[in-house]
Amino acid sequence: MIFQRVKPLDAILAAAEKKALHRSLGATQLTLFGVGVIIGTGIFVLTAAGAQKAGPGLMVAFVIAGLVCLVAALCYAELASSIPVSGSAYTYAYATMGELLAWLVGWALVLEYVIAGAAVSAGWSGYFTGTVLNEFLGISLPTWLSAGPLALGGVEGGFINLPALLIPLIITGLLVIGTNESAKVNAFLVFIKVAALTAFIALTLPQVDTTQFNPFLPAGTFGGFGSGIGVVGAAATIFFAYIGFDAVSTAAEETKNPQRNVPLGIVGSLLICTIFYVLVAAGAIGTIGGQPIMGPDGVPFPAGSEELARQCALPEHAEALVCSNEALAHVLRQIGFSGVGNMLGIAAFLALPSVILVILFAQSRIFFVMARDGLLPARLAKVHPKWKTPHIVTGLTGLVVALGAAFFPVGQLANVANTGVLVAFTAVAISVMLLRRSHAHVPRHFKTPMLWLVGPATIAGCMFLLLNLPLEAILVLPVWAAVGLAIYLAYGRRHSLLGRGIIEVHEPEIHDIEPAIPGVDERDPLDPPRRPPES
Ligand code: ALA
Repeated sequence: MIFQRVKPLDAILAAAEKKALHRSLGATQLTLFGVGVIIGTGIFVLTAAGAQKAGPGLMVAFVIAGLVCLVAALCYAELASSIPVSGSAYTYAYATMGELLAWLVGWALVLEYVIAGAAVSAGWSGYFTGTVLNEFLGISLPTWLSAGPLALGGVEGGFINLPALLIPLIITGLLVIGTNESAKVNAFLVFIKVAALTAFIALTLPQVDTTQFNPFLPAGTFGGFGSGIGVVGAAATIFFAYIGFDAVSTAAEETKNPQRNVPLGIVGSLLICTIFYVLVAAGAIGTIGGQPIMGPDGVPFPAGSEELARQCALPEHAEALVCSNEALAHVLRQIGFSGVGNMLGIAAFLALPSVILVILFAQSRIFFVMARDGLLPARLAKVHPKWKTPHIVTGLTGLVVALGAAFFPVGQLANVANTGVLVAFTAVAISVMLLRRSHAHVPRHFKTPMLWLVGPATIAGCMFLLLNLPLEAILVLPVWAAVGLAIYLAYGRRHSLLGRGIIEVHEPEIHDIEPAIPGVDERDPLDPPRRPPES
């Protein structure tokens, strides 16, 4: 049963052929687009959690996570150029590994998007309460309204993170009524994110005191599988900071000379972000220090744990980087640049919601494709008669994202989101290798270089990072997969269109869904109706 129901590639490609997209994107546009999707809560907020896990070794952690993303991105690029249709890793798996595994990969993507949306919302809340409410309006939100409860990894006296609850609901509302981010707004938000990080680096690096890097590896390199500490543990968490680059590969079809420009866009945006991240980590830790708060046994308290929350409430840790909810603004304030720190806070406040918007949108797209294949009830993907948006699935997603953000801390959410991404990347690496064997002659605009090395390196890198996440995050995965399996057996297996021998599908019309690259890619995100392959 496991490898049954492989979707015929011909049928998928026949659909893709009808798209005939205009090839307009060059390497620079792709790179900027990548940088825009990638930079978010990871660097603005998780720098604190990363330092708690690895201390100054966080700089190395950013390089490790960047390298794993790089090999995965090269695999993505080949699939995106040979199966250029919606659905990302889910569709690739359907064409290579069969329906059950594809469903589980899609289910992992749902975990990724929903929890990543919650993580970015919780991260945004730190900047909103710290910079906008506290610094600008002089309002101090009580703890019970600004953090989740201790029992769920929040802080003492915490009950609900109200701003984190509200922001995804507002964005969901905008998505439901069909609001899209225009190319200009997108370019502006990319600009302010990059400007904020550039200012941070320019102001902190001259003040770096190299003694702050000592000891460089206070928690060691490898804390043990499931421990979530040490350099590799930090890499597994801040891997979150790189999520989003796969969006570059999905634009393969609209790229001029994709064989050259897609890899340039992917490698370029990853390289730029890696350099930014390493320099930001160096500036943050080199100025105010970033040593972890150690437990009695000389091991750092787990980031997002009850014990760490208690330690951070002590006056001696009030200024610690690892305790800050708005790490980068906090560093600038500490070194005498309060004004710039507040501007950086405003940049995060303005730019992070667009990351949430892209994530919520991506989630509805995945659900849509799965419902269209019959694996989820079509009702879920129903399009609103007036707004022409998939309002039910968008609303449901927004609600779950809001609840996650309201009660759980950003670090824990990011860890769980990473499990979903790492599974999806593994599936992509396996798919690209299988497809080379099964469909050697399918035209590929881009071929992964040295796939014999890059494919297995992606699988090994992803599995290694997965096992280095904290155990409680890893354990979410089998539970999530079991729920997914139960849904598949109870619903998807019987309703699958492929299983019922139906290849042609009449899908609902969606005209105003946000394109992959806002304002640039004008394609309908879903494939046109499929017809049986002509043979
Ligand atoms: N990479 C994105 C972020 O850090 C998800 O917010």
